[in-house]
Parts: sequence; C-alpha cells; structure tokens
Amino acid sequence: MTQATHTLLVERVDSLSDADLADLCEATDAAIIEGGGFGWVNAQGREALTRHFRGVLLVPERVLFVARLDGHPVGSAQLVRPPRYNEAQAWSAQLTHAYIAPYARGHGLARLMVRRVEEHAAALGHRVLNLDVRETQETAIALFEGLGYTRWGTHPAYARIEGRTVAGHHYYKALEPVRGRSKDALFPPER
Ligand SMILES: CC(C)(COP(=O)(O)OP(=O)(O)OC[C@H]1O[C@@H](n2cnc3c(N)ncnc32)[C@H](O)[C@@H]1OP(=O)(O)O)[C@@H](O)C(=O)NCCC(=O)NCCS
Repeated sequence: MTQATHTLLVERVDSLSDADLADLCEATDAAIIEGGGFGWVNAQGREALTRHFRGVLLVPERVLFVARLDGHPVGSAQLVRPPRYNEAQAWSAQLTHAYIAPYARGHGLARLMVRRVEEHAAALGHRVLNLDVRETQETAIALFEGLGYTRWGTHPAYARIEGRTVAGHHYYKALEPVRGRSKDALFPPER
C-alpha cells in the first residue's frame, strides 16, 4: 500500500481570511471535543472562537502560529512575550495553547510548529522558552520531552477539569541564540 503524502506548513500569521478562520475554529473545537489539554474544556463554537482569534491577533505580546495540512488550517500555537514592564524576564517567553486537530495528527505538524515557535522566539531575542502541560496529556509530554524540554516542577493543583483536580508539569528549554553567545552561558555553574 502506498502512503499518501501531505503538505505540512506552519506559519506565523498577523491576519486570517474568513475561510482560514472557519477551518481554524473547526480544528480548535475538534481538538477540544477530543480532550482539549490546551486551556479550553468545552467546545466554544465558531462565533466565540472567531472572536478569540481576532482578539489574539490584536494583542501585541501574543504571536499566533497556524499549522496547515494540505493548505488548510488544522491547529495553532501562541507565543506569549513578557510585558514591557517585566524587564527582568524579557529574555524568556511562553509557548501556550498548542494543539493539532485529531484528524491531522501523526504527520509531524506539532513538532514543526514547536520548532517554528522556538525559531521565532530566538529571532526576537528570547533565550528561554517556558511551557506547562496537564499531566494527563501524554502525547504532548512525549512531544515536548522529545524536543528537549526539561521538566523543572509539577503543580499539584494545576487545573480543574470536570470537577477533578489535575496536576500539571512545567518545562523550560534554553533556545539557541541566532547569533552571539552559546546557550551554555545562560545558566549559573552547578553549586
Ligand atoms: C500533542 C499534539 C499537539 C501532537 O500533535 P501531532 O501533530 O500529532 O504530533 P507530531 O506528529 O508532530 O508528533 C511529534 C511527537 O509527538 C509525540 N507523539 C505524537 N503522537 C503520539 C502518540 N500517538 N503517542 C505517543 N507520542 C506521540 C511523539 O514524541 C512524536 O514524535 P515521533 O514522531 O518522533 O515519535 C496533539 O496530540 C494534540 O493536539 N493534543 C491535544 C492538545 C495538547 O495536549 N496540547 C499540548 C498542551 S499546550
């Protein structure tokens, strides 16, 4: 049997056409219904998600990435940069709200999406990427650990899902600077 080949693309977007928004809302609700894991617990519907994505595009500290399978949006992720008043943590950023619709999984899109977010964060001058994930999201945990994220702690009361308290793991990754010093210089020597 021959395996179908697909076109994978992840892009940073600052606007979305109505058709792309419709696909993205459908992908988002499909991922929520399948089990979520990226914030939402209940399906939101097209109208609410359209407002959400339009709002994200307006927030200066948020960068939206959209994953496309054969041209159609099937998932997204957000890079959240620290506010300007947080100079002390200006070197770090957060990867959040990452998901791929169930019908588009297993093609390597999430891996590509995380890499794109990392590259963009590094190009903006960030040297550390932080993220957190529910302990129940085993696939995401495998994805992030496979990409070199270090788990530094577990929050025992991280989320509340359908009346149940769920723990969450916190991760960081030192980003390769686009140019300049090696990332080894980021961390103090072992005490
Ligand atoms: C986690 C998620 C984004 C992975 O999407 P995907 O496009 O299918 O992932 P990829 O095809 O890029 O796979 C990348 C890696 O993820 C892991 N992975 C993917 N599918 C897996 C599976 N079924 N079982 C175990 N690990 C799996 C593997 O480490 C894989 O690397 P490999 O192919 O070298 O083994 C997707 O399952 C999802 O949206 N889950 C729900 C939302 C979520 O948990 N988001 C993260 C919290 S922010």
